[in-house]
Amino acid sequence: MINPIELIKQGLRKRFVQPWQYRGKGGYDAGRYWRERFVKYGFSMQGVGLEGHTHAENLQIREKSAQILAKVCGAEFKDFSSVRVLEIGCGNGYYSNILEQWGARDYTGLDITDILFAELKRKFPAFRFVQGDISEKPLPDKYDLIIMMDVIQHIVDKAKLDAAMRNVKNAMKSGGLFIILPVTGKSYKHMFHVHQWSRDDIQETFADCRIESESARLNEYILKIRKP
Ligand SMILES: C[S@@+](CC[C@H](N)C(=O)[O-])C[C@H]1O[C@@H](n2cnc3c(N)ncnc32)[C@H](O)[C@@H]1O
Repeated sequence: MINPIELIKQGLRKRFVQPWQYRGKGGYDAGRYWRERFVKYGFSMQGVGLEGHTHAENLQIREKSAQILAKVCGAEFKDFSSVRVLEIGCGNGYYSNILEQWGARDYTGLDITDILFAELKRKFPAFRFVQGDISEKPLPDKYDLIIMMDVIQHIVDKAKLDAAMRNVKNAMKSGGLFIILPVTGKSYKHMFHVHQWSRDDIQETFADCRIESESARLNEYILKIRKP
């Protein structure tokens, strides 16, 4: 844990300073917020994780999430070499690395900020990295597997969430799979840049899809959505 004084400062910044600093349409200016976060933290897991925790603590949390993803994906795919993968909100490439280890060859990482892309392209020369906001325009391609890990809670506006989910659905191939974490039992706003969404909030978009949910982290579920 980061020292307690720093933790209090962090809390005050998040509650009083940043909501004003990053105010914008649809809740907050996500593009600027994430760009500045990655400028500050670079590839440290504090950039994608909890700022009040250390890199090592955040890594542990990511490792747990990766195990959950591995369990869900492992039951679906034995061989990733021919699976067309899209990751929404690829951040510092934590899951790009995992997908590379699993043998994925056709991987696209989409992120609202491209600040880490030069280094990501160097680390994963066979992978594509594309800048874009999933809640804005439709994606040009279709995928067998779309993953969205710890991103949905950072879309804090319901109209944007609906648009994002529609764009995901349009980007799924017929028979394609969408894996999303976290979804909670109850929908609630947490901070200026965090809104926990429930299954009810997204299931209308995927009404014709098969949705399975599994308990993942504390009070959070991972959803597996299959397009017919
Ligand atoms: C909490 S981080 C998670 C990163 C990565 N998925 C992981 O779990 O390590 C959230 C990521 O989503 C990206 N992001 C936030 N809102 C987005 C949006 N509307 N469209 C695309 N990416 C977004 C951020 O830039 C950031 O990289």
